[in-house]
Amino acid sequence: MGKHVQIMADHRSKLLVCVFLVLTTQTLSELTDKINITYVNSAVEKGAVCLDGTPPAYYHSVGFGDGADNWLVYLEGGAWCNSTETCLERVKIKWLASTSTRPAIRYVSGIFTVNQTFNQAFYNWNKVIIVYCDGASFTGDVEEVDPTTNLHYRGARIFRAVIDDLLAKGMKNAKNAVLTGSSAGGLATILNCDRFRSLVPHATRVKCISDSGFFIHSKNMPGANEREAYFTQVAELHGMAKALPQSCASKMNPGLCLFPEYVIKDMQTPLFILDSLFDLYQIKEMLAPFVGGCKEQWDDCTTNLTLCTSSQLQIMKDHRTAFLETLQEVESPSLGIFVHTCFLHTHVLDKDGWRCSFVARNVLAKKTIEEAIDDWYYDRSSFQQIDTYTTVPRNCTVSRDNDIMNQRCLHPKHVHPMY
Ligand SMILES: *[C@@H]1O[C@H](CO)[C@@H](O)[C@H](O)[C@H]1NC(C)=O
Ligand SMILES: *[C@@H]1O[C@H](CO)[C@@H](O)[C@H](O)[C@H]1NC(C)=O
Ligand SMILES: *[C@@H]1O[C@H](CO)[C@@H](O)[C@H](O)[C@H]1NC(C)=O
Ligand SMILES: *[C@@H]1O[C@H](CO)[C@@H](O)[C@H](O)[C@H]1NC(C)=O
Ligand SMILES: *[C@@H]1O[C@H](CO)[C@@H](O)[C@H](O)[C@H]1NC(C)=O
Repeated sequence: MGKHVQIMADHRSKLLVCVFLVLTTQTLSELTDKINITYVNSAVEKGAVCLDGTPPAYYHSVGFGDGADNWLVYLEGGAWCNSTETCLERVKIKWLASTSTRPAIRYVSGIFTVNQTFNQAFYNWNKVIIVYCDGASFTGDVEEVDPTTNLHYRGARIFRAVIDDLLAKGMKNAKNAVLTGSSAGGLATILNCDRFRSLVPHATRVKCISDSGFFIHSKNMPGANEREAYFTQVAELHGMAKALPQSCASKMNPGLCLFPEYVIKDMQTPLFILDSLFDLYQIKEMLAPFVGGCKEQWDDCTTNLTLCTSSQLQIMKDHRTAFLETLQEVESPSLGIFVHTCFLHTHVLDKDGWRCSFVARNVLAKKTIEEAIDDWYYDRSSFQQIDTYTTVPRNCTVSRDNDIMNQRCLHPKHVHPMY
């Protein structure tokens, strides 16, 4: 998984192409979903800065109507860095290490859209995206700055400084609040959930939604020691021990507390786990590199599932079993669970990921992801559903054609006859 920064670099030009494509295929109504950046310059004197020393930043879409006092705070993802070398790589490409290259305006979709048709639960809330630039899931805090590298490990301070800024902008009067995030941000959501709750003490309903952040230790699967060693390096480099949930960090190696399974049981705030039994990132970056066999074969398998060998499929089945067992260990009545079998990673920022549920059979108990979370958040019903229908990953890639996607969004259940 240390290869991730390199992967990001390689994908940058592709990323720009994607953004362009999305812009040109979106409807006019969706193009109005743009949000502005705010830099928290006052945070710099508190030492709350990105890896490269630039100030923290967030995007804010102002709430309206009966959503004016409701706040949804989203933590961006982007893996981690475990060494000065890998953190410096981020600085070099100015991505995930800095706010200096972030665009002033960002186009958003999914859980961020203001169109009620596609976002019943949160369309009129205040919605915030906090830029990820610390490399340790918003949980690092090292006072010293190495003069030779000028790297700052200050994720926990960034989280606090941005939240303080939001409290001053009205979040202190929040009635309802949600902390969410995807991937490394989905992990950050779990690690910072109870802290977030304590910072909005007067809100009546505060819950957290972790999107693709349930990274499992998977002790009996290949790479368990490497996964543990990796998170231990991240925790040590970034001085995470004091900002991690103390219920975990006081009991064991703090690096282990980056595996949600060691944290969730002691959490006080309700949590929703949205993930896949075959999370693309976990399989590709945290499992496959430690399974024998040639790398090319795994690359073939993860880019075209029909090319997976039977032994690769068996590894993925075993991963599924480990994932199910780990989920069982953390289960509690307040826990929300929507765990499917699509081979992908992250959901809520995508129109199809949030409202229309990627593809056939990704509706669980006749509910889309959006409906499941809406009901769970407002305590209309609990939601704990796992797709146990298949034991191998499914390819859920859908057409990006806007008309087709809108049909799926407007009538999500009609195109999912299986459930
Ligand atoms: C960081 O992780 C990579 C692999 O992900 C590993 O090769 C490297 O040794 C790690 N860095 C340190 C300082 O251990
Ligand atoms: C929301 O999207 C629907 C379907 O595309 C569209 O008909 C409607 O005008 C949009 N509403 C707003 C407020 O933009
Ligand atoms: C975003 O910034 C532009 C230009 O400064 C401004 O006109 C617009 O009102 C801002 N939008 C929001 C939602 O704050
Ligand atoms: C999924 O299917 C699409 C469309 O056929 C294809 O382009 C893509 O490579 C497939 N992905 C995987 C992981 O098999
Ligand atoms: C995936 O592999 C199968 C079997 O070789 C092939 O028929 C199919 O065209 C490939 N799909 C893509 C999108 O490359």
